[in-house]
Amino acid sequence: MTVEIIPSILSADFANLERDVRAVMDAGIKKIQVDVMDGRFVPNISVGLPVVRSLKAQTDAVLDVHLMIVEPERWIEQFAEAGADVITVHAEATVHLHRALTQIRALGLRAGAAINPATPAGVLSEVLPLLDLAVVMSVDPGFGGQRFIEAVLPKISHLASALNAVGNGGVVQVDGGIDVNTIGRAVAAGAKECVAGSSVFSLGDSIAHAIKALQEAVH
Ligand code: DX5
Repeated sequence: MTVEIIPSILSADFANLERDVRAVMDAGIKKIQVDVMDGRFVPNISVGLPVVRSLKAQTDAVLDVHLMIVEPERWIEQFAEAGADVITVHAEATVHLHRALTQIRALGLRAGAAINPATPAGVLSEVLPLLDLAVVMSVDPGFGGQRFIEAVLPKISHLASALNAVGNGGVVQVDGGIDVNTIGRAVAAGAKECVAGSSVFSLGDSIAHAIKALQEAVH
């Protein structure tokens, strides 16, 4: 299975979002991540349903929606209707993780569960069969441009092995601080999807060059 680089629009130019998403797609990337933040689960507020609707209407991008919000189960249906293709909820943000993941899958979307750097992998052990994605946060969520937390590498490996043992096709996605210096170690540890925000949109380099550099750094 090849490694997928998923640009996170958190670091894109929101005054020119369609332009930036088109540049990502022109570089051959089909999936983008939309980071939804509520100012409660994380100390930041970002975007919500209108941006998902606009991206679905204006682009062919596959939309991976990362809900960094409390009580995400209250919003799953609306984000699905808005055009999400993948929805990830945080294990720390809901009392009913099993129900939330079941709901996402029942809507025909891919389901992800994310865990923060301080959260042990075992939190996901009972829901592994429901996961298309186990999202290992390699930064404390809320902001782009943070430093990769090396201590999560064993967690990536543990979850990659656990998902392989379940055999439902679930993979590990790593999110946070992914750049040309860290992507190789994350992939070597077992990540199959790598979310990259600032290393795609904020380097001052062209988006195409930034993506190519990440693709080359995987190996
Ligand atoms: C939570 C967000 C970020 C973003 C990636 O903070 O989920 O991790 O997607 O941002 P970078 O790649 O700039 O760390």
